[in-house]
Amino acid sequence: MVAFIREVVAFRAAAQEASHVNEVPPGFNFLEERTVRPSDSWIRDTSYWVPRHLVESAWLEHAPFAFWLVDAIRPTAIAELGTHNGFSYFVFCETIVRLGLPTRTFALDSWQGDDQAGFYGADVYESVSTINETDYSAFSTLLRGYFDDSLDSIPDGSIDLLHIDGRHGYDDVRHDFEAWRPKLTDRGVVIFHDIAEHQEGFGVWQFWAEVAQQYPSFAFDHGHGLGVLAVGGDIPKRLRAFLEEGLLKESEIKKFYESRGAVIAELYDLRVRAAEVPGLKGELEVAGHQLNEKDRVIALQESDHLGLVDQIRRIHESTSWRLTRPLRFLRDAVRRHRG
Ligand SMILES: C[S@@+](CC[C@H](N)C(=O)[O-])C[C@H]1O[C@@H](n2cnc3c(N)ncnc32)[C@H](O)[C@@H]1O
Repeated sequence: MVAFIREVVAFRAAAQEASHVNEVPPGFNFLEERTVRPSDSWIRDTSYWVPRHLVESAWLEHAPFAFWLVDAIRPTAIAELGTHNGFSYFVFCETIVRLGLPTRTFALDSWQGDDQAGFYGADVYESVSTINETDYSAFSTLLRGYFDDSLDSIPDGSIDLLHIDGRHGYDDVRHDFEAWRPKLTDRGVVIFHDIAEHQEGFGVWQFWAEVAQQYPSFAFDHGHGLGVLAVGGDIPKRLRAFLEEGLLKESEIKKFYESRGAVIAELYDLRVRAAEVPGLKGELEVAGHQLNEKDRVIALQESDHLGLVDQIRRIHESTSWRLTRPLRFLRDAVRRHRG
């Protein structure tokens, strides 16, 4: 295992040299990329990052675009309506840490659940709160309660990025948008989850169809749909370029982020499966302690990935999972890794 981690470290160095970049970013995805990546205004290194906190969520497939978006608009403050386990929120927070941005963030939720997301216990808030305290307390605040109860806690004209992901009925989403719209700055951007969800009781698609006519916008169809709406008069430069390119390259952009999102969903899926293998996590921890400090830092950053690659080696030798989808994905990844 230690040898394998060293191999990965060497691979990272080789990839760095091969791609002529000065620095391999912390989220560098050695599973995926060995060559120079395409560079468009809508694809950056951030588009390839892998979330540190992979928790259960219907939002997994939007992480790559969310990393890109926060990088692109560099918001002064972010507010999220509907945080649940914290997946989307921690993706925003992680971008801030990795890029060293001076952004403040607010997560709003009753942390009780609702009839659409399902009701849940106090353990969900406790787990979100622990991650928040450990990793993001310098800039992140959890506002526990109903969204409207926090309206006075956030000044008007102070939020650059608002994520609306509470209840998904037409009236709910319309209310959340209208109540929180005054909080946005001139550079304000709103993202709506579930714009492609048409099951009973879901009306974000309908509200989206209305607002997308009124403001510059882009809509992703994958991962239940994510709508990006530039509501401010002063659209951040890189987002403006994205929206302009979106008119010409809509399907290319959608395909790219859909495929990147699928990688994150696969990783989550495999992580859940890997947790079923006794001792795998412990083995990784022991290996990590045996490394020198530099290697250990890298191993911690990549430990999830390493676990998955190790897992696939084991799975690859077995027959029962051979034809599963995650296996095909990782088999390809290992091939790419071996060049
Ligand atoms: C779909 S989940 C959020 C998912 C999350 N963004 C993610 O990344 O997985 C919706 C959340 O909104 C919360 N919620 C819905 N309506 C609310 C309201 N009016 N006030 C506070 N919380 C609310 C629920 O408790 C639930 O946790």
